[in-house]
Amino acid sequence: MPLHLLQHPLGAHVLTHLRDKSTKPALFRTLSYQISLLLALEATRDLAIEEKAIETPMEPMSGRVLAKPLVVVPILRAGLGMLQPFHDIFPDVSVGYVGLERDHATAVARSYYCKLPPLDGRRVIIVDPMLATGGSAVQAVDVVKAAGGREIVFVCIVAAPEGLALLQKAHPEVPIHAGAFDRELNSRKYILPGLGDFGDRLYGT
Ligand code: PRP
Ligand code: URA
Repeated sequence: MPLHLLQHPLGAHVLTHLRDKSTKPALFRTLSYQISLLLALEATRDLAIEEKAIETPMEPMSGRVLAKPLVVVPILRAGLGMLQPFHDIFPDVSVGYVGLERDHATAVARSYYCKLPPLDGRRVIIVDPMLATGGSAVQAVDVVKAAGGREIVFVCIVAAPEGLALLQKAHPEVPIHAGAFDRELNSRKYILPGLGDFGDRLYGT
């Protein structure tokens, strides 16, 4: 499954300010909202639709509405910074949570929380801003599949080559949407040029 890279010029503009180390948490949260909204639109471009008969004030017509319920699953904690736009444009969306935290020394993700709604027959969009080694993303897709998720999409803001390769190898059928595809990881498994620790910048920790 190829990587879908965000093409909108506003995406590049927002990303530059997100990457800027002088951007403070309040603006960082706003920018996270903005780029996640663009990514949410891209990741749902191919949602199934069905006919619905309605009457306009002028005459009857057949309109089109979304055919399948949608589930969004943010990976805690940083994924929460991408959740609100999904709520705003898909008011009936269900939300599940997967809590994963990378060990600072090994960069290996540890699971600490999981709460998922019914996933059968629904598009499940997993959101996490950073795809670094890919360990967190692979674990999250594993969990969603184990809970019955079949139509899964992964959405991130910045992807590294290492993480992309791991996720594509483990779950080749999962489409990946990203705001940017960066150069590499450093020795501590942070993305370069990246934007630093997303969770820390989002929550000012
Ligand atoms: C960050 C990020 C991803 C993960 C990516 O979370 O939000 O979940 O690292 O790294 P990986 O691809 O190497 O697994 P972190 O573990 O720092 O937790 P946080 O969201 O609570 O800050
Ligand atoms: N998690 C982050 O928040 N940033 C990185 O660069 C890598 C993992």
